[in-house]
Amino acid sequence: MKKVITYGTYDLLHYGHIRLLERAKALGDYLIVAVTSDDYDKSRGKINVKQSVIERIENVRNTGLADEIIIEEYAGQKIDDINKYNVDIFAIGSDWKGQFDYLEEYCKVVYLDRTEGISSTEIRNKKSSIKFGLVGDSSTILKFESQVKYVNGLVTSGFCVKNESLIHLLKEKGYFVTKSFDDLLDLIDAVYILATPQKHYDLIKRALLKGKHVLCESPLALTSLQAKEIFKLAKEKKLIVMEALKTAHATAYHRLLLLAKGGIIGKVVSVDATCTSLSKNAYEIDDNETWNSICTWGPTCLLPIFQMLGTKYVKKSMVSYMIDSTKKIDGFTKINFIYDNAIASLKVGKSVKSEGELIISGTNGCIYVPSPWWKTDYFEVHYENINENKRYFYQLDGEGIRNELLEFVSQIENGICSNAIDEEVSIAIAESISDFYNGKLDEIKFN
Ligand code: CTP
Repeated sequence: MKKVITYGTYDLLHYGHIRLLERAKALGDYLIVAVTSDDYDKSRGKINVKQSVIERIENVRNTGLADEIIIEEYAGQKIDDINKYNVDIFAIGSDWKGQFDYLEEYCKVVYLDRTEGISSTEIRNKKSSIKFGLVGDSSTILKFESQVKYVNGLVTSGFCVKNESLIHLLKEKGYFVTKSFDDLLDLIDAVYILATPQKHYDLIKRALLKGKHVLCESPLALTSLQAKEIFKLAKEKKLIVMEALKTAHATAYHRLLLLAKGGIIGKVVSVDATCTSLSKNAYEIDDNETWNSICTWGPTCLLPIFQMLGTKYVKKSMVSYMIDSTKKIDGFTKINFIYDNAIASLKVGKSVKSEGELIISGTNGCIYVPSPWWKTDYFEVHYENINENKRYFYQLDGEGIRNELLEFVSQIENGICSNAIDEEVSIAIAESISDFYNGKLDEIKFN
């Protein structure tokens, strides 16, 4: 009996897939189809897949062409499978031409012509096309622009930028660029906002009132009341407001939260997060609007605290080393939280350097994320017996922006999101920032 094996994602099954399976089957007597697992697809950068592995297996089963279906879970598995199933022929579409020649050592390799004019990517793009606008004067918007192409269903339609060199650069790329926020809003369905913390609330409201979905950098607002108002308005208008905290969308960060909540280190007793960055133009002051230390880094540090321990702390204390008290510029701020059964702390700074690590301490062990933890792709679980220690790595593409955009689109399309930031967490973040501005802190003056 001649055994044939073929591999694929088979998302939103189309006739290109069916033709491929028919021809693969015709090469032998028994066809094994390996369907990629969700995790494996993510790890190889295929993040747009719409259907779960179960649904995709069902797609393949329903063709009636597969004699056996297996799951492809790791790079290099093909050699294992060929040996394990005693495969005679490896077949794959011609878009992979040359890439699997190395398998000739184990079986015959056949590249079958790919069917022209159809692909899962095309079907996914047809399903939705969200016109996306970007607002901001920092080079960060270029990072977002470069990631949009990886997210099916999202199309960059224009920019609202005031910085002349950025305008020039974007126009050269052929984009629509305006200095008017309203003109941009008229053109789009959804907007990404990176302004100053003082402007975010107003810009978000204006976008929502015009019926646009919003992805906005943290903090969304400078008081919890404003944050609540934004979410209420979004609900009334049936729109999405999402806080743009990249870390929340890093696979490693999400997995470590799940592991901690699942009890891998016992009961969580303490969460300690530090984020600092020294830079020359640290505070970017513009008419008293500034990215001080607490606004720049506070939301990121507050994220694991509120996501791990919840937002209902009993007590909070805050100490800042102020660079300019009148303009509320903190060079370094430390916040301590006391919960009923746990504690937490954060340190943020733009004039002080510290080690940017995250430590979650539990009754059986701890989770350690090395600096810079906010770009998490790796973490360790430590136990008293070091032989039991575990290490975890999850690829982080596009600094997490790609996943963030993907989740934004999926929220807009289905209202469902696996690792989004809860409204409650966003409101608690705004509340902590507001406590800073309302002087609920001890100040230290250094010379
Ligand atoms: N295939 C094909 N003709 C097409 C699309 C896919 O022959 N028009 C083949 C691929 O070459 C591969 C198998 O079908 O051998 C599974 O492909 P898969 O990557 O799941 O499908 P795509 O439509 O190419 O998916 P995507 O757009 O996400 O890359």
